[in-house]
Amino acid sequence: MAEGAPARARHGSSIGQPLTRQDGLLKVTGGARYAADNHPAGMLHAVMAVSGIARGRVTALDVDTACAHPGVVAVMTPANAPKLARHPDDTGKPFMFRLDLLQNDLVRYANQPIAVVIAETLEAATEGAALLCPTYSVEQARVGLDGAEPFEPRAVGAGEAARCAKGDVEAGLSAAARRLDRVYETAPQYHNAMEPHAMVAEWQGDRLVLDTPSQCMSMAQNRIAGLFGIDPAQVHIRSPFLGGGFGSKAVISAPQVLGIMAARLVGRPVKLVMRREQMFGPVGHRAATRQTLRLGVDASGALTALDHHTRTASSTFDDFFEPASGVSHTVYATPALATSYDAVRIDTGTPLFMRAPGEASGSAALEIAIDEMAEACGMDPLEFRLKNYAEVEPISGKPFSSKALRECYARGATRFGWASRPLAPRQMRDADGLLVGWGIGTASFPALMFEAAARATLRSDGAATVEIGAHDMGQGAWTALAQIAADSLGLDLADVDFRMGTSDLPNGGIAGGSCHTATAGQAIHGAGADVIAQLSQIATNDQRSPLFGAGNTGVLARNGRLLRRDDESRGENYTDILARAGRACIEGAGKAAGDQATQAAYAMHAHGAVFAEVKVDPGLGQVRVSRLVGAFAAGRIINPRLVQSQYYGGMIWGISFALHEHAVTDTRSGRIMNANLADYHVTVNADVPSLEAILVEEHDPHVNALGIKGVGEIGVTGTVGAIANAVWHATGIRVRTLPITLDRLLG
Ligand code: MOS
Repeated sequence: MAEGAPARARHGSSIGQPLTRQDGLLKVTGGARYAADNHPAGMLHAVMAVSGIARGRVTALDVDTACAHPGVVAVMTPANAPKLARHPDDTGKPFMFRLDLLQNDLVRYANQPIAVVIAETLEAATEGAALLCPTYSVEQARVGLDGAEPFEPRAVGAGEAARCAKGDVEAGLSAAARRLDRVYETAPQYHNAMEPHAMVAEWQGDRLVLDTPSQCMSMAQNRIAGLFGIDPAQVHIRSPFLGGGFGSKAVISAPQVLGIMAARLVGRPVKLVMRREQMFGPVGHRAATRQTLRLGVDASGALTALDHHTRTASSTFDDFFEPASGVSHTVYATPALATSYDAVRIDTGTPLFMRAPGEASGSAALEIAIDEMAEACGMDPLEFRLKNYAEVEPISGKPFSSKALRECYARGATRFGWASRPLAPRQMRDADGLLVGWGIGTASFPALMFEAAARATLRSDGAATVEIGAHDMGQGAWTALAQIAADSLGLDLADVDFRMGTSDLPNGGIAGGSCHTATAGQAIHGAGADVIAQLSQIATNDQRSPLFGAGNTGVLARNGRLLRRDDESRGENYTDILARAGRACIEGAGKAAGDQATQAAYAMHAHGAVFAEVKVDPGLGQVRVSRLVGAFAAGRIINPRLVQSQYYGGMIWGISFALHEHAVTDTRSGRIMNANLADYHVTVNADVPSLEAILVEEHDPHVNALGIKGVGEIGVTGTVGAIANAVWHATGIRVRTLPITLDRLLG
């Protein structure tokens, strides 16, 4: 390698290299085949008709007129929808949700599917759906966080307790030198992946072939198989690329199942793609929260108590409760800590996991509250955090498996130039007279592990195939997982045929919870290690091999060769070992799962700190984020280019959360008034002038075999609070309702 060579320099392994996406060329040339790009012979087009009311019944659909429209083949309604083997309200928890599959005429939320029109062309199906002209009997919709009687949910998120406590919060608050009691609100948000949920379904007898984006093909297989009364192995899913998911594609949704039902009804392949406005209802969302934070500190500014209560909303017919208080379990040290929830049931589609579910909303409120307390103490907000951040996990008392938060604070602050921040607000202006403010937020996200399996096959030509039913949501799984595969076999990336994205491969687990690389990576690593162990055994037991007698642990695998650890000049090519043994191939298997003993001993989280600069127009209240610097520690970094990109994505979402995203419901009708990307604002390029993500090195020996933590979601956390706190620093106005719209900064 020439001196001054670019960042592609190799250090003897693929892991750690900032490779560009292996599928990048396919994607930029249109060669990547997304679900809706599949057009099997004889395929028909299906279009959903969705409810224009939020609560009531469908009293009539003009099916005859729709059917009479040229090109329309069938109209699927509760009257003729194929019978299901299992009622869609009959779910097996967790990670399974009730689906609206035309089982009756009930309407439980706006944009609920009420019929599907199937036609020879998309245009005919669209027109047919318009001709249905539904009539309804309407009941008054229940809307918002005060829309119904609150109750305490049995569990929140993916099954966490709705009530947790350690120490005596009331005593801690009474004894405090200073107290804070504040209410923060976050708005409902919708996932809005660039690729809407789409599906092409083809029944081949009792076998179902499905092109659909999925963050977890194995769960989708099971759910679909249960609904249709077939063996999960009969459900063949192809999901090589997702145009984003953010949690909304983690579980199979009603529109996807309706496409399968439509294909069964007409006996032909059917394609169903959701329209953008239809995404605001049946495929999940991030529910609104109202969070009450009560904090106490002693005279030195150390927390004496922290109480975090969340009110949220779920649907009338299913349970998902945004677990926003949970982040307070892990970030700040306090002798007394309590978290709790209540919720209302309103006429909305069921909420769901959405990028950093819980932590995004929860850390927004927590970080503003912490900032307010720092202000009350007259302390710099970074200094206050350095005084109060937790060295052991507050709720459990467990040590963190590793933690580089202090370094994140330091690296981020230095890079940002935090030291020159004036303590008081409204002190800085730019050359144009805009108010300038600086804010900080602490980032935190758990390091989870799901179950997965992988298979590796080394062939006599020295090349290998590695297979896993993993998922690429756009995050770069095709690349990062292939890097792990190559290293696990001691091969160059070019010598590994890495296959993923279909359900007939070993179960790749879930692309969610920020742990796909860790989970799928561990399974792949195990499969490669299994191959190498078998190969070593052959060589070290063979007197003709230079490795004879080295023992299985006495060899290492590198560049397609096994080498003696004690003398690397003695080694042998894989091809020679296989040839002499007369083996065409060696197949290895690997599995991943969280290690329960380690999880019982350690708290496992990624950590970070985000610093924001905003500029606020003092006359108009318009807010712009002019700089964001995040520093994150998330264990071993498989591909720094992709990881940086994940941090950027999370931080951009943080801008979106703090300033833009807000689904607004009409309180009269229960309909979302801005169910489109013109009126539902998301952060775009022009909103993101300068982003930096610092990758803080961290070695975590406990978290999993490869020491990998997740990077997909942590970027959202911390960022929202940092921006809100920067807005305060610019203006002196504390906005506790997100997103921060300009009206809140005027008058
Ligand atoms: Mo994410 S909300 O775990 O897809």
